[in-house]
Amino acid sequence: GLPIEVNISKLEPGQMIRVEWRGKPIWVVRRTQEMLQDLARHNDRLRDPLSQEPQQPRYATNATRSIKPEIFIAVGICTHLGCSPTYLRDGFSGQMDGIAAGFLCPCHGSGFDMAGRVFQGQPAPLNLVIPPHRYLDDARVLIG
Ligand code: FES
Repeated sequence: GLPIEVNISKLEPGQMIRVEWRGKPIWVVRRTQEMLQDLARHNDRLRDPLSQEPQQPRYATNATRSIKPEIFIAVGICTHLGCSPTYLRDGFSGQMDGIAAGFLCPCHGSGFDMAGRVFQGQPAPLNLVIPPHRYLDDARVLIG
């Protein structure tokens, strides 16, 4: 599949754009300051907080799993059995209570934070996958 270009210039804080690449859903989210600050607060609840599992591009092995801190780009497919998690912009209830925002898989309940990092004790074994991508300029990112 060819790389796809996404324009992020009109993406508001908290907003998600969904695109498709190689038949997969790709999410592009502009994280709010609150979401970014929350990422540093719950490392002890994550399975792989530093994303050291080998499926990640090198630029995803940092605290935000991204090239630009505010822009989060991920393959929107649960690493358990492939359902597409739901974006919970206003946070979780239940097991992930207190987390500012994240993603919840409707199939077996795996929870991921705003960097796509899986919480401990979930069926999903790995963090969400970050697709290869690069920025062409401030407005445009090339995925693939
Ligand atoms: Fe997501 Fe099972 S497919 S938790």
